[in-house]
Amino acid sequence: MKKTTRQFIAPTLLLLATVTPELAAQISATEYTARRTALAQGIPNGILVALGSPAPSEDFLWFYQNSPFKYLTGFDEPEAALVMVVRDGAIAGKPLIFVQPKDPSREVWEGTRLGVDGARSAFGFDARVNTTLPAVIDSLLGSGAGRTLHVVGDYRPDREIRSHDDQFVAAVARRNPGITVQSANAKLNTVRGVKSAVEQDLLRKSIAITVDAHREAMRLVEPGMNEFELQALIEYTFRRNGADRPSFVSIVGSGPNSTTLHYGADDRFIENGDVIVMDIGASYRGYAADVTRTVPANGTFTPAQREIYQAVRDAQAAAERAAAVNGPAGVLSEVARASLRTSLVKFGLIESADATYDCDAAASRQCTQLSLYYMHGLGHGIGLDVHDPGSATGSGNLVPGSAFTIEPGIYVRGNLLDIIPRTPRNQAMIGKIRRAVEKYRNIGVRIEDDYIVTPTAVEWVSRAPREIAEIEAIMRQPWTGPAPRDRSKVEWYRSTGRPAP
Ligand code: GLY
Ligand code: MN
Repeated sequence: MKKTTRQFIAPTLLLLATVTPELAAQISATEYTARRTALAQGIPNGILVALGSPAPSEDFLWFYQNSPFKYLTGFDEPEAALVMVVRDGAIAGKPLIFVQPKDPSREVWEGTRLGVDGARSAFGFDARVNTTLPAVIDSLLGSGAGRTLHVVGDYRPDREIRSHDDQFVAAVARRNPGITVQSANAKLNTVRGVKSAVEQDLLRKSIAITVDAHREAMRLVEPGMNEFELQALIEYTFRRNGADRPSFVSIVGSGPNSTTLHYGADDRFIENGDVIVMDIGASYRGYAADVTRTVPANGTFTPAQREIYQAVRDAQAAAERAAAVNGPAGVLSEVARASLRTSLVKFGLIESADATYDCDAAASRQCTQLSLYYMHGLGHGIGLDVHDPGSATGSGNLVPGSAFTIEPGIYVRGNLLDIIPRTPRNQAMIGKIRRAVEKYRNIGVRIEDDYIVTPTAVEWVSRAPREIAEIEAIMRQPWTGPAPRDRSKVEWYRSTGRPAP
């Protein structure tokens, strides 16, 4: 395929300058209050502490606030904590936020801190210096406010190597014998599972940016380039459109790498005849998209690649048809698996729809033959985390406000037949599937889309080219440099609640 390139141009500085910053989409103080109130409902009386992320070991390394703390506060500095007194399922008094003090000499290196006064006025919390956190918690636990400490954070008392948060909680428990410590993470996850209108809006923006990146990459790709060239264009497109960063490692896997589910090295020269799995997502104001497309390196799927691709797409379409507002989420996975099984039987990759094999050498366990090629779940919630809480495609119902992915795949790994335990049962199976495995060897296909459930529909949001003909058509377009900035889109990215352009 002939491709042409031209110099990057920057025609849009003027347009950017006209965007009013106060249009910026953001979560309101009222919404943060509602989140904290929802968390307090149903929690027994006590003291709730949510722990922010520690500072990185060097101030020039990345700092990312953990998502539970971000969800509850919107506060984006390290070493912070939130404390609330919970009484009768409500928050008693004002929440207290503990923050790093102002320190002009540190701020020279790390940037401006809000400090106690800044946090108080910007967030409407009662604020304290974070060094006083242990004493305040001890005092509250001893004051009759409640002898239960509810913890939101990286807290799991059952593990051997203790996290920063485990150690903090253990120290509180040592100083306050007789208290009960309970994780509030599960309760918070329930609250986070339903996305507000503003959250949905932010997700639509991160998804739109990710779709743009897919379109760019589809135009650029050709045999001979390295996976990292595609990664660079994808991540450039994210940032150029105002995304914070990739929401997870950008997976650009060509040829054999297409069969590694979370391949993140992105450093192989792409060959003619490869397929390339691009599993990517922008994070926009903290909200994560997650969209996967699989494309043929030279612009045209081979017959074998088409068969696998269409089988994956059919499975996804079956799941989409099964998705209904307030309907059960688990059905999506069942119908997708049934569809994949039918295709794999047709290809000769499995012996029959329900066929199993010995998944250990002792033949003590049976696994489905489907799992030789499809070894992950159908999807997950999306939100502040790329794998966000929510009923998604597991248990529960697709209630309005759910945001989730559907991402079936088939991966025919080059060494598949070498890694199956050599039991008599498996030898017989290998004899039957060997030809098909050779035919589809090193073809990995995943198609992943993002959906938001509204009161009236399960909306497919990530509308990047997806059908075989659409992908081949966009790949015929020459890549002539990044798409010119579109003013209406720029304004949409920066606005709250407007419909997509
Ligand atoms: N995008 C990576 C995953 O969903 O596992
Ligand atoms: Mn995913």
